[in-house]
Amino acid sequence: MKSYEVKILGTGMYAPKKILTNIDLESIVETNAQWIYERTGIQERHICSTEGGEYPSDMAMYATLDALKVANLVPNDIDLILFASVTPDVKLPNSATILQVKLGITNNCACLDIAAACSGFVYGFNMASAMIKTGMIKKALIIGSEMLSREVNWKDRNTCILFGDGCGVAIIGRAEETSESKVYASILSADGTGGEFFDQPVGGSVTPITIEHIEAGTHFMQMKGKEMFKVATRTLAENAQKVIAEAGLTLEDIDWVIPHQANIRIIETTAKLIGIEMDKMIINIHKYGNTSAATVPIAFHEAVTDGRIKRGDIILFDAFGAGLTAGATLLKY
Ligand code: UT7
Repeated sequence: MKSYEVKILGTGMYAPKKILTNIDLESIVETNAQWIYERTGIQERHICSTEGGEYPSDMAMYATLDALKVANLVPNDIDLILFASVTPDVKLPNSATILQVKLGITNNCACLDIAAACSGFVYGFNMASAMIKTGMIKKALIIGSEMLSREVNWKDRNTCILFGDGCGVAIIGRAEETSESKVYASILSADGTGGEFFDQPVGGSVTPITIEHIEAGTHFMQMKGKEMFKVATRTLAENAQKVIAEAGLTLEDIDWVIPHQANIRIIETTAKLIGIEMDKMIINIHKYGNTSAATVPIAFHEAVTDGRIKRGDIILFDAFGAGLTAGATLLKY
């Protein structure tokens, strides 16, 4: 069977207009700006408007329109939309179909949401790549778009200082015969036994939200930060090493790593465990905080747009999140 190489054709991002700084947080919860910066690397984050126009599907539409321009494509060229989010506009229908309508796509392309938390974009990327490789589809739109500000407890300083809103997208397709672009290796993994380290047990079929939950604030996301930290660093490093080994490459071959942006100390520890220099790690956590599924595509888009990442560079996506899910991709851009 003929197989095809995969190429990233275009990227885009959207960051909500409102910026919330660490100093602003001092008047919301008992914290201090310096603590947040020193323990997480975060200085500010963007927050979606609650008036509309910046919901996850809106952000995805703006980011996709930019990515389509870069790729020189029109919306109906997309065969598949994979929308990664833990904060979708609504429970039903899925966000990918909402976006399909907003983009004016009329070709009945497949639309699927991915619930893999912070690893969602990388899950989508690897799944869509596999479908392109086999020839099942020609072009896929992969999205990470989150409005976490709706789901964090603004009275819980353990979580609310960490997260931000935003969206990043990539359009991928078959590489031309003459192109060097390719996906060398990819991995998707999960360890469900760590599910309780980061969860939101209220609000599903088992425990619908009641007035008591709202009064106690127990319907929001909750996280055991220290436990997450340990597993995150170990898993990010292991997955990175696995894809590099599978591709038959060495650390010296890697030009850039785009790690999930959850905490600068997680990124530093992961780099140490992998054995790679920090100046190869793309970092933007200071500006956006943790935007879950959106961190990897936003960081990638920024580094491509400002010229750090160039065609032919060897790139590693490395993500980890609630679930506990994880995914890595090693590719030539
Ligand atoms: O995207 C999914 C992946 N996300 C993660 O994996 C997140 C991983 N975890 C983390 O990034 C870190 O564990 C946190 C940033 C969440 C917490 O950092 P930490 O260094 O583990 O802090 P800690 O929880 O051990 O807290 C240290 C101290 C505590 O005080 P005591 O008990 O030592 O007196 C906390 O009460 O800092 C206190 N503290 C704060 N102080 C000011 C906790 N949160 C805050 C705060 N402001 N916001």
